[in-house]
Amino acid sequence: MNIDARSDVLKVEGLKAGYGEENILHGISIRVPRRSIVAIIGPNGSGKSTLLKSIYGLVSIRGGSVTLFDAEEKPVSLVGKRSNAITALGMNMVPQLANVFADMTVLENLQMGSLPARHKYAERYERVLDALPLIKGMLSKRAATLSGGQRQMVAFGRALMSDPSLLLLDEPSAGLAPMVQEEIFSKTREINALGVSILMVEQRARQCLAIADYGYVLEQGRNRLEGTGAAMIDDPEVIRLYLGGGKKSAA
Ligand SMILES: Nc1ncnc2c1ncn2[C@@H]1O[C@H](COP(=O)(O)OP(=O)(O)OP(=O)(O)O)[C@@H](O)[C@H]1O
Ligand SMILES: [Mg+2]
Repeated sequence: MNIDARSDVLKVEGLKAGYGEENILHGISIRVPRRSIVAIIGPNGSGKSTLLKSIYGLVSIRGGSVTLFDAEEKPVSLVGKRSNAITALGMNMVPQLANVFADMTVLENLQMGSLPARHKYAERYERVLDALPLIKGMLSKRAATLSGGQRQMVAFGRALMSDPSLLLLDEPSAGLAPMVQEEIFSKTREINALGVSILMVEQRARQCLAIADYGYVLEQGRNRLEGTGAAMIDDPEVIRLYLGGGKKSAA
């Protein structure tokens, strides 16, 4: 389907945000069409995590707009809202670091993920286990005892327990062995096929663009390039900057 023909689930316009005195994002604009996968790539320190955190209410917004559209396409401004309220509105995030409660069991992690949306717990629990069958066998294990890939699956499960229509993923493949990275990318695609829109930041630019409907390149807190995932993979400038040896920004 032509990506331009879809309505948006998220629209960010002219977003400015930062820490302390310093501004990090200098007017970022992106959109996430409903049920799509959108990739954000860019060099270290370009503001990718800051972008996801400000969308999810973890970094305060200093300018611009962040709008989530509900199932009836009614716009809701996320500016000034806290993460818990944002989760309840249908958006959740798997952060770059510390994305599971290490001292809790897998089951407790899933239960924690369910807190902002209390209704139909049993139904959501069944759906999450169906989507992530791998975690069925580890429900009573402490998250700290799991491998990196297993932990990432639990982090996905925890986020899915809130029944999000949009999931933000910050470098889900980071620090994982190549085969496990492949599992993370294919699982991301499966979750998307269940109807969840995905906005993901990745260092593995080529693999991420390969599953993305659309991609954005950030540089120093600004939009640098954008295009469909397929067009970006073939774009000489993207290749030069990020895909050259296939490993430049991935090392
Ligand atoms: N909590 C913080 N306090 C102050 N400055 C921060 C904080 N977090 C990030 N920064 C700064 O903001 C800038 C952007 O950081 P950010 O983490 O958003 O980049 P990134 O694109 O996600 O990088 P990476 O690829 O390394 O994850 C960097 O200069 C960083 O040092
Ligand atoms: Mg980051």
